[in-house]
Amino acid sequence: MTDAADAISGAATAADAPPMISMRAVDKHFGKLHVLRDINLEVPRGQVVIVLGPSGSGKSTLCRTINRLETVDSGTIAIDGTDLPAEGRALARLRTEVGMVFQQFNLFAHKSILENVMLAPVKVRGIDKKKARTEALALLDRVGIANQADKYPAQLSGGQQQRVAIARALAMNPKVMLFDEPTSALDPEMVNEVLEVMVGLAKEGMTMLVVTHEMGFARRAGERVLFMADGQIVEDSDPETFFTAPNSDRAKDFLGKILSH
Ligand SMILES: Nc1ncnc2c1ncn2[C@@H]1O[C@H](COP(=O)(O)OP(=O)(O)OP(=O)(O)O)[C@@H](O)[C@H]1O
Ligand SMILES: [Mg+2]
Repeated sequence: MTDAADAISGAATAADAPPMISMRAVDKHFGKLHVLRDINLEVPRGQVVIVLGPSGSGKSTLCRTINRLETVDSGTIAIDGTDLPAEGRALARLRTEVGMVFQQFNLFAHKSILENVMLAPVKVRGIDKKKARTEALALLDRVGIANQADKYPAQLSGGQQQRVAIARALAMNPKVMLFDEPTSALDPEMVNEVLEVMVGLAKEGMTMLVVTHEMGFARRAGERVLFMADGQIVEDSDPETFFTAPNSDRAKDFLGKILSH
């Protein structure tokens, strides 16, 4: 390579930020069950990725490996250019960069809404309580429930509790947010208030991976659709292409089932 070409490629490398999520040749078994098969995925900063696929195809496992709730058998996973370490303090630190919101909100029942959001920043990050409180109130305001701060989870609706769970994840200032069917346990009239918060996050440039059956949201906020089947990413395309002209029979079959509901 000439010096000039070298300089150009160097400049290109500096300008190209590493992908926010990078999975290379990831495999995962549960006993004999091969749940993730040679997963290769790069998600650039700020991209909103929708993950679809039939039950048991590995969507939750994919999310759980990205923040190391599950280990992988082989392959590597990197967040913002740093490989996820196997264990220890470095892993704990890197995990705080990946927020996760589940179908079940898992709030602490005996702590107030405000305390739920303040807890991890104080305990894990060592932020002082006054600052954590101010930030938690700002986050509760952002998800539209600042007026509920002193209540307990059981006093809130499901939609409100899920918004608390989102605020709690955001309190760690994550680089990536993973959502695993965040609206599946909600009564229908509460789905939109949670999706609105997620649309807001997407617009602000958060990198998001969202497992959801909410097709309206997928089309509106999604920039990319991954379709999984049997532990593999079978399709990887833009939403419009996926919903109007899916390639595989599996995806056609899946869409036929969910869109006929
Ligand atoms: N902890 C576990 N131990 C053993 N098998 C598991 C475990 N977790 C998941 N599995 C199995 O791995 C496969 C993938 O599960 P996963 O939960 O990732 O699927 P999914 O696509 O999220 O499905 P769903 O749409 O039903 O949530 C399934 O066959 C499931 O039964
Ligand atoms: Mg799942």
